[in-house]
Amino acid sequence: MVIIKTWGLCKFYDPTKTKEIRALYNVNLQVGRGEFLVIRGPSGSGKTTLLSLIGALDRPTKGQIYLYGEDITNFSEAALARIRREKIGFVFQNFNLLPRLPAWENVTYPLIPVYPRARDRMKWAQELLERFQLEDRFYHSPEEMSGGEQQRVAIARALVNDPEIIIADEPTSNIDAESIENLVGILKTMKMEGRTILMATHERSIFPLADAFLDLKRGQPVGE
Ligand SMILES: Nc1ncnc2c1ncn2[C@@H]1O[C@H](COP(=O)(O)OP(=O)(O)O)[C@@H](O)[C@H]1O
Ligand SMILES: [Mg+2]
Repeated sequence: MVIIKTWGLCKFYDPTKTKEIRALYNVNLQVGRGEFLVIRGPSGSGKTTLLSLIGALDRPTKGQIYLYGEDITNFSEAALARIRREKIGFVFQNFNLLPRLPAWENVTYPLIPVYPRARDRMKWAQELLERFQLEDRFYHSPEEMSGGEQQRVAIARALVNDPEIIIADEPTSNIDAESIENLVGILKTMKMEGRTILMATHERSIFPLADAFLDLKRGQPVGE
């Protein structure tokens, strides 16, 4: 079952005559439930742009995005926010953690609207942090953690809403070899849990997990 589809997807930044940037041009892709899509391409080829469009963080200039068969291109802000909250977990390239907040608060930050009481959120945080061997980092802030630990906090946060879709943008660019190995294990588990994963990466040790590859080039059409 196809759960993500794009059709003629384009994103142009600054679409004035002189400075237009074709960040993404005519991307057609389909991802089935439980599939792992690896997105490759040189810097500036639109990997981050594509992930933020599919993740309902931004809107295309042209073309369509279908999630679960529904065209979300013209959804309201509120409807897009709901999709992000209920269906998608994000792991950003620089992790996007709040530098001053302890790990447990970072992990459960997306839950604040649903569970306003800290005590309720701490229980969730405990479970997730234990799962990623971070139980002894409960009260530590990202500033006090290694790159690999920060990444695990970011992954734990991405899973806090039990999302069906995981979107990860070059998650290995700031971590050491051992943490990359650890990440491969985490990704295997995510696959076994049936999650659909879209990841921009050039890390070869992740490639065997991929069901499909999308290779982006600067300013060129991609797909069928
Ligand atoms: N907010 C923005 N405003 C203008 N140009 C942007 C913006 N974001 C990205 N770009 C441009 O779009 C192109 C694709 O960027 P990006 O999606 O970040 O590529 P990648 O993640 O593959 O490095 C680049 O030329 C980049 O400079
Ligand atoms: Mg990028």
